Amino acid sequence: MAKIIDGKKISSDIKDDVKEAVKALQEKGQTVTLAVVLVGDNPASKVYVRNKKTACEYTGIRSLSFELPEETTEEELLRLIDDLNKRADVDGILVQLPLPEQINEDKVIEAIAPDKDVDGFHPMNVGALSIGKKGFVPCTPAGIIQLLKRSGIDMDGKHAVVIGRSNIVGKPMALLLLRENATVTIAHSHTKDLPALCKTADILIVAIGRAKFVTAEYVKEGAAVIDVGMDRDENGKLCGDVDFDAVSEIAGAITPVPGGVGPMTIAMLMKNCLAAAVE
Ligand code: GUN
Repeated sequence: MAKIIDGKKISSDIKDDVKEAVKALQEKGQTVTLAVVLVGDNPASKVYVRNKKTACEYTGIRSLSFELPEETTEEELLRLIDDLNKRADVDGILVQLPLPEQINEDKVIEAIAPDKDVDGFHPMNVGALSIGKKGFVPCTPAGIIQLLKRSGIDMDGKHAVVIGRSNIVGKPMALLLLRENATVTIAHSHTKDLPALCKTADILIVAIGRAKFVTAEYVKEGAAVIDVGMDRDENGKLCGDVDFDAVSEIAGAITPVPGGVGPMTIAMLMKNCLAAAVE
């Protein structure tokens, strides 16, 4: 039976560290501020934004909330971002994605000042990650590296397979694993014989968005399996991209859903906000 990687506990430890550092800054008269921008009424986005604000309250980070109507124009949103870029009292800017269709997401991401881009989505930060320079790293893959490190899973020289090639998870994940000296393969919907490839992985990161897609036949005995999925099973119950019951019999370590990767994303956002204020 695999060791269960407790993302709730690890994320809570990270938030406690941030809370302490924020308090120390406050004692020196400095506050840490995150501007959270939500456009429209996407129900999932509303939940994510609420959770981010709750984490700000917990860690002592001041959050400024900008909730704009669904019909907001691109120009209006860009104007707000410009204001926030110029404000000395705003350390980090987060624009919750997806945006309504009349707004070009790339344009919005590129408008955020790279040194306030706590999501790590700006091309400048993406480029910095790819050439090993300092910059903001996307929160979900950064959180996964913390899960592995804090669970004592060595990445050096190991074969890591990442299923999924999104800009938010798959691609930055592969670069971060490479930075840890893993040998990295990125797999995706066009990959041939996915189960056989995955079975060669010492570390398997699954970010495809299909409920219980990865079954026991994908997993090598003793491998570490990280499930980024947030799906619903046939009964409407929250589950991941990995068939947890079957895979946990074979893996050496595994993240549950919920309580694995999910809480880490927000903890790393808090860490990025702190970094935005001190650097
Ligand atoms: N939508 C889904 N994930 C994310 C994220 O990590 N950041 C933002 N801003 N929007 C998202």
